[in-house]
Amino acid sequence: MANQEDHFKNLISHCKEYGFIFQSSEIYDGLSAVYDYGQNGAELKNNIRTFWYKAMTQLNENIVGIDAAIFMHPTTWKASGHVDAFSDPLIDNKDSKKRYRADQLIEGAVEKIEEKINKEVEKAAKRFGETFDAAMFRSTNARVVEYQQKIDAVNARFKKAQEENDMEELRQIIIDLEIACEVSGSRNWTEVRQFNLMFSTQLGAVAGDASTIYLRPETAQGIFVNYLNVQKTGRMKIPFGIAQTGKAFRNEIVARQFIFRMREFEQMEMQFFIRPGTQTEWYNHWKETRMKWHRALGFPETKYRFHDHLKLAHYADAACDIEFEFPFGFKELEGIHSRTDFDLRNHEAFSGKKLQYFDPDYTGPQNSELRKTQTDDDWKDNHSYIPYVIETSIGLDRMFLAILSHSLKEEKLDDGSERAVLNLPPFLAPVKAAVFPLMSKDGLPEKAREIMDLLKYDHNCVYEEKDNIGKRYRRQDAIGTPYCITVDHQTLEDNTVTIRERDSMQQERVSIDKLAAIIDERVSLKSALKRIV
Ligand code: GAP
Repeated sequence: MANQEDHFKNLISHCKEYGFIFQSSEIYDGLSAVYDYGQNGAELKNNIRTFWYKAMTQLNENIVGIDAAIFMHPTTWKASGHVDAFSDPLIDNKDSKKRYRADQLIEGAVEKIEEKINKEVEKAAKRFGETFDAAMFRSTNARVVEYQQKIDAVNARFKKAQEENDMEELRQIIIDLEIACEVSGSRNWTEVRQFNLMFSTQLGAVAGDASTIYLRPETAQGIFVNYLNVQKTGRMKIPFGIAQTGKAFRNEIVARQFIFRMREFEQMEMQFFIRPGTQTEWYNHWKETRMKWHRALGFPETKYRFHDHLKLAHYADAACDIEFEFPFGFKELEGIHSRTDFDLRNHEAFSGKKLQYFDPDYTGPQNSELRKTQTDDDWKDNHSYIPYVIETSIGLDRMFLAILSHSLKEEKLDDGSERAVLNLPPFLAPVKAAVFPLMSKDGLPEKAREIMDLLKYDHNCVYEEKDNIGKRYRRQDAIGTPYCITVDHQTLEDNTVTIRERDSMQQERVSIDKLAAIIDERVSLKSALKRIV
């Protein structure tokens, strides 16, 4: 396998060549950090979305789905804190004019020190062999200890600066870490300033502040404002969840790494409404459940890890990411957040509408603010509260990238030729089966068409008769089609076909009578869903 950087470049060109992803408005030279999904990309994306949605709603009797509008009343974003606090710290290099996120510059510098530690540990592991104790080495080796102390000191300053919104200190950390611009190589930095990430537009024909609305930067708020509608009409009892997939928009300062960070993207979010005081239990539950969902894909466990947030978002009392090892390192794939009653409490305050839930067995404060000032005794006759919320939030495009980056392989075959193959989990593959007549004569195409008719109502299948069989296999390998079915002359005699499996390239001969059942079983989403519960 080429190195990771080459692998990532290959992946981007593969996505274009095989109809997965195109640059948006490419004929006009594209629009930065906006992408379109092609014929195979749209199928794969749909399959990932379905896997998530069914795992949330069908596997959990107490979770239902909604589809809220992208536009919301502007006060929503005041209440949620996005108007005041949804911003990133921005810094420019005065020589190259290149713009950076100050927090990412610092995180990148810390990662470089971490890499130095990892190199020291690897070297020592080789030197000492089986007797090597990595934890002991990390805590005693002078150089490693010094690196670690530097990381801890930077992280402590970084956390404090972010909590206190101290832009000068962020700049000072960049200067102290001697971070240079990757383009100009200079350390000639501007001040750090906050930049709000929400896109705004005008509603209706009248311009002006009163009609300014935002493109939603997260789908979650559509769930919060509908929580009582769903609870009442669905007669839901706490704990219960609401799931949703849909577009979100952020005017990212630095949008890069292909579809990893986009300005228009899709989220899959679930808000789980719980009793105050039970948040730690449910937070742990959803951490575990979401990791099981990821592992159901069958990728190596080492590709995933948890990362606790150093800086908590304005709404959270605990938060972590599930990180995935992308070709450019471990990065956030999904966030799990304990959002307290922050959102609902603020929506109650801003809208003047009661958003409390009546729970006959509950006695305690109505919300987290009252909890700070009053004792439980003050509340013994109270049975209503604003629910707390655990949120799971994953980017669909980012999940798409994680899956493709792990699945794309360049293989050398026994005959010396090469093939690009996408080892996608079969239930996610854009095309589940390709049907080939060996030749386009002798009644083989007609028989192959009969097989298409047999399968197409259950699965996305393609029919191909152009080029020799080898070339047809290669094309299907490259888009991840798990099964190729070939109709040959023997088919006309004994009603059997060959099924060729993508990864092993093994072929087996099966009766057409059994074909539908075989394909159904092998590409079914059911077995992946069963691995989650
Ligand atoms: N409602 C909580 C929320 O939006 P977040 O950590 O900002 O939390 C959740 O976003 C997930 O959405 C991320 O883990 C990531 O997968 C995805 N995401 C966020 N910004 C993105 C972007 N600019 N491009 C693609 N995916 C993004």
